[in-house]
Amino acid sequence: MTTGDWKTIFVTGGAGYIGSHCIVELLESGYNVVAIDNFTNSVIEEDGKSAALKRVEKITGKKVTFHNCDLLDKERLEEVFSKQKIDCVIHFAAIKAVGESMQIPLHYYRNNMIGAINLLEVMKAAGCFQLVFSSSCVVYGEPKSLPITEDHPTGNITNVYGRTKYFIEEMLNDITAAEKNWNIISLRYFNPVGAHPSGLIGEDPTKKYTNLMPYISQVAMGFKPELSIFGGDYPTKDGTGIRDYIHVVDLATGHVAALSALYRKHLRLRVYNLGTGKGVSVLELVRTFEKVTGASVPYVIKNRREGDISAMYADTRLAEEELGWKAKLTVEQMCRDFWRWQSTNPHGYRSSVKNGNSEK
Ligand code: UD1
Repeated sequence: MTTGDWKTIFVTGGAGYIGSHCIVELLESGYNVVAIDNFTNSVIEEDGKSAALKRVEKITGKKVTFHNCDLLDKERLEEVFSKQKIDCVIHFAAIKAVGESMQIPLHYYRNNMIGAINLLEVMKAAGCFQLVFSSSCVVYGEPKSLPITEDHPTGNITNVYGRTKYFIEEMLNDITAAEKNWNIISLRYFNPVGAHPSGLIGEDPTKKYTNLMPYISQVAMGFKPELSIFGGDYPTKDGTGIRDYIHVVDLATGHVAALSALYRKHLRLRVYNLGTGKGVSVLELVRTFEKVTGASVPYVIKNRREGDISAMYADTRLAEEELGWKAKLTVEQMCRDFWRWQSTNPHGYRSSVKNGNSEK
């Protein structure tokens, strides 16, 4: 990969799970990073700095410039953005709890949609038209065929969070059609799991998670008595749901590859799946987790979860051909790295902070 003469990348949501892992890879590839976050879901240490970003600096031995900035505060965003020349933006900041998004939809639309609009307007005013957008396989809705290629129809999504990703992609479509300066890649993530192999950063397990791997490791830690497996009667190899789990470090290197692609060629708007292309069932993930960690994960098979689909996995050829990127890390590594992070930080970033402000 090459940074070309691009130096500075502006990262929104930099203190989050995917944002922090991505910043590690950006710094290690030679970029400077300016990160913003509103820190509402972050742990702030006594010196006023984000625990996650401090650990990113520890891993890389490099500095991250970071600002407490909410995308809804456009004046503040303009001020922060105009402090330096930005070569490209990676936009992660969003709220993403599927269940919550159905209860407070307006809050989700305001935060995710207006946040994205403010960002695009500030970028345009500053003459920065390069963007990598953090999208999701959720935009495909119920798959009509597997593995899913990027030209699979989108829309028909069953939750508000997913619709915000879909609407932003539609908006990107419209602006890139109308204004030729824009050069954008939208990355559709499959199921990001795992943690940095250092064990210093990861998905904060003290939050109320409903995703599978954080839940498995909460059970393995003894914080929860058992895992409920939602559905044992799907038309899959063992009756449980199938997903394409991707190690968060692979996901992060996918962003570095996307930056190189945007630098090399004016693409207007291109969309890529970031997954491994391999479907793994819930039971397979549980068994692999038990095997590599030696921990036990008791489970019970329950009814299907509303809105869940039977199977989803990516066709990854386009990213391989055009970005020169392919996921390398195995399900074993995903489990081992997640467990290292979880077992050494049982209370997430609050494990090392006396007065963590993280609301749970
Ligand atoms: C969820 C989100 C999706 C988001 C993705 C990010 C929903 C409906 N969708 O996808 O929008 O992009 O996370 O990773 O929440 N499972 C159990 N027991 C559990 C938890 C999960 O059996 O306690 C099963 C699910 O039924 C599913 C699989 O594990 O088959 C993965 O679930 P999860 O981690 O929640 O991810 P998704 O539902 O695929």
